[in-house]
Amino acid sequence: MADLHITINRDKGAIAGQIASELRDSIRLGRLTPGTRLPASRDLAADLRVSRGVVVEAYEQLVAEGFLISRVGSGTQVAPAAARAPAVEDPAPVTRAPYYGHRPTSPDLGHFPRERWLASVRHVLATVPADALDYGDPGGVPELREELAGYLRRVRAADVRPENLVVVGGVAQGLSLILHVLTRTALAVEDPSSHRQAPLLRRAGAQLVPVPVDEQGLDVAALRARRADSVLVTPAHQFPTGVVLSPARRAALLEWAREGDRTILEDDYDAEFRFDRDPVGCLQGLAPDRVILSGSVSKALAPGLRLGWVVAPAHLADAVRRARGELDLGSPVIEQYALAHFLRTGGYDKHLRRMRREYHRRRDALVLALAEHAPGVRVRGIEAGLHVYLDLPPGWDEDRVAAAALELGLSAEAVAPMRSSAGPPAVVVGFARLPARKAVEAVLGLKVRMSGQN
Ligand SMILES: Cc1ncc(COP(=O)(O)O)c(C=O)c1O
Repeated sequence: MADLHITINRDKGAIAGQIASELRDSIRLGRLTPGTRLPASRDLAADLRVSRGVVVEAYEQLVAEGFLISRVGSGTQVAPAAARAPAVEDPAPVTRAPYYGHRPTSPDLGHFPRERWLASVRHVLATVPADALDYGDPGGVPELREELAGYLRRVRAADVRPENLVVVGGVAQGLSLILHVLTRTALAVEDPSSHRQAPLLRRAGAQLVPVPVDEQGLDVAALRARRADSVLVTPAHQFPTGVVLSPARRAALLEWAREGDRTILEDDYDAEFRFDRDPVGCLQGLAPDRVILSGSVSKALAPGLRLGWVVAPAHLADAVRRARGELDLGSPVIEQYALAHFLRTGGYDKHLRRMRREYHRRRDALVLALAEHAPGVRVRGIEAGLHVYLDLPPGWDEDRVAAAALELGLSAEAVAPMRSSAGPPAVVVGFARLPARKAVEAVLGLKVRMSGQN
C-alpha cells in the first residue's frame, strides 16, 4: 500500500481537485508506478483530515481519466498504462483564472460530470457508424434535435418539434444567426443588459434600441414609445438585474409583438436554475409563431462545450439552418451525439438536480452573509440563476467593489458598462463557485476592503 505525501491548502478550497492533481502529478512523474495500490479512501481521508467523500471524488476523477483503476475486492491501483496517460486529459487550465469563477454567470466547472460525460462519449465512439462522422446536417444531428425538443417541452414548456430546432454553438451564436436571417434590424434590448452581447448584436447588423427594465422586467410601455421591429429579452431571469418578467408584462410583450408583426428573441440563458418556486415556462411556449427561443448547456454543463439551440417557426428555423450551413457547416458531431446520449440516459436531469441543490445552498449562504454583515447592500434577483445583483450603499464605488471582489476570488462585474445611461452604483456577483462555508469570509473581506472608502 503506497504511503502518500499529499499537501493540501484548505484556504484554496476544491480539496478533491487538489488531491486529484497531486496524485496525477505523482503518477506522471513516476513517483507512483503502475500497479501501486492506493490507501483505502477512509484511511487517506483520516490522514488528510477530510471527509471520505472528498477522497472518493478524487479517486473517481482519476479513474475516469484513466490514471487509476478500481476493482471490487482489490481497491484502487495505479492503472497499467497510467504513466502514458495523454496530457490532453489534464484538466489544469491554460491560464490561471480567479478561483471562484470567470464570469458571474458561469457554473462551477469543478462539478462537471466528467465520468458520465465520458461514458456518453465512449458510447458514441463505440456505436456510431463511420459515416456519422462526415459533415452532418448543419441544423444538428437528428438524435440531438429529438432529445432537445423533448427536454424543452418537458422542462421549459416550449412548443417545439425537432424540425423547429437548430443546434448551434451557444446562445451567442444562436443570436448572431437569427439576426443574419431577420431582415429588419431595429432591435430593442433591455437596459441594462449584457455588455458582452452588444458588440455581437451590432456586428450581426442590429441597430440597438435600449428600453428600461424595472421591478417587473422590461418596461413594455417604454418599448411602445420607441421604434423597434424586434426585442431581445431574458424573461426567466433578466441579465443583469435578475428580475423575472411579470405575468402582466409577458402578456403585454406578446401583445406588442402580435399587433405589429414583430419578433421576440428570448434568451433563456440560465432558466434551469430556479430555486424558490417552480420554473417559469418560456415565452416561446405561449406564442411559438412570434418568439424565437435560444438556450444552451453553458450554465447546466459548461460554456466550453459551445452547444446550444435555437427554436423558431419552421421557415425561420430553416433559414437559420441554411445560414449555419453557409457560415461554418455545423457543430461537432461527436459532442452532439454525446449530449443526445447524456439526455436520453438521464445524466442531464440528474446533474441539474444535484447542481440546483448545491447552488441553492451557496446562494442562501451568500445572501445570509450579506444580510448579516453588509446590511447596507441591497440584494436583488435571487430567485434564479447563478448570480446576484447588488445595489451598493452610498459611497461605495462599483469599480472598486468589483475589483475588491475579484481580489477575493469572487467573479464580479460593475453594472455601469451594461447601462445606456448613468444609474445607481451596482455590481453583479456570481456565487456558483463560492462554497457556502466561504460566504461570510468573502463578505467580511469585501467590507474590510470597502471601509474607509470615500
Ligand atoms: C445573458 C446571457 N446570455 C447569453 C450568454 C451566452 O451564452 P452561451 O454560452 O450559450 O453563448 C451569457 C453568458 O454568460 C449571458 O450572460
